[in-house]
Amino acid sequence: MHLTKDEERILEGEYGESLRMMMSILVKIGEIYNADRLIPIASAQISGVSYNTIGDHGLHFLRSLRGVKVKVPTTLNPLAFDKRYVDLLKVSEEMLEKQGKIIKAYVNMGIRPTATCTPYYFDNIPKFGQHIAWAESSAVIYANSIIGARTNREGAVTALAAAIIGKAPNYGLHLEEERKATHIVALDFEPKGEEYPLVGLAIGERISGIPYLRITGDEDDFKLMGAAMAASGSIPMYHVEGYTPEYRNALNDDVERIFIERDELDYFREEIDVELIAIGCPHVSAVELRRIAEFVKNKKKKKDIELWVFAAKSVRQRFSEWVRIIEDFGAKVMEDTCVVVSNAGRLYRRIGTTSGKAAFYLSKEKFGGCEVVVKDLYTLLRSVVE
Ligand code: F3S
Repeated sequence: MHLTKDEERILEGEYGESLRMMMSILVKIGEIYNADRLIPIASAQISGVSYNTIGDHGLHFLRSLRGVKVKVPTTLNPLAFDKRYVDLLKVSEEMLEKQGKIIKAYVNMGIRPTATCTPYYFDNIPKFGQHIAWAESSAVIYANSIIGARTNREGAVTALAAAIIGKAPNYGLHLEEERKATHIVALDFEPKGEEYPLVGLAIGERISGIPYLRITGDEDDFKLMGAAMAASGSIPMYHVEGYTPEYRNALNDDVERIFIERDELDYFREEIDVELIAIGCPHVSAVELRRIAEFVKNKKKKKDIELWVFAAKSVRQRFSEWVRIIEDFGAKVMEDTCVVVSNAGRLYRRIGTTSGKAAFYLSKEKFGGCEVVVKDLYTLLRSVVE
């Protein structure tokens, strides 16, 4: 891999041990994937933020990176709680203290303390064709597919290294030819409602590559579908004919075909007595927030079901009128956290959600041990209204 003189100096430790370590991570990754060089990036997005996820080792590692600053705008993934709801989320003293130290370590590096998996709405907006280094899988697939920015699925450490160096190894989805579809996914139905995330789960289970779909839907439908396929598989990008910006050049002759029948979508559909409805995995868009507000306005919430909505702080602040309507209804609109990385799945064991990704992680079969049902937004909202 070609390095510039300055990159070599960093690698030799001339600018200190922390920078040397960050550069050596990028170079190692680049060598593994046959990158020809490092390329400048426009932004980074860091996972590995919740103390629940990275623990003491992660905190120790972050604090060991003394004196380094990020070179590009960088934002964080959700953390373990919304500080306004520490009692409700049963956040321990230790968690409060350690999570605070993690955020402080990131802020000392110049990272914006906004903690969301949807930075693309307001906080960290990539443009078409820009190279970026993002880590959150749902944000990676959104940025590549819906925006047309270019990022591999970075890990927590590689995204941080890229943010600090301001560059990423030039391989994978940074290269035009690697962004082509590998599979055409044909459906025997036109998806609607909760079928988008369920189709996403099915694709993630069936293929490893870049799917090409001929379906219709809106941005939120595709956001939920993409997050689900990135969770159940390792899919970093998809194309939707007539919708995503790169679909025209996406098909090669050697593309494989797979077929998904409606009957196959039998995940998370069993009726359960839901205790918590969780919307916002990925964090809600302005449109989703407005739909919720309009639906619950002047209605009464059932006492035995909670409704929690998860949003980026920026979305929550900009659309405070809708937030007020939702909270007047008796629901919570939380920021900086989510149903998966907070204690929500320990406090409530029967959860209804619009999200295939949340269902995947919260379910009994995976880590969360919860009973989960996936339904479309309005079906869930109807079930929480008296
Ligand atoms: Fe975002 Fe948490 Fe879901 S990080 S994509 S809301 S699991």
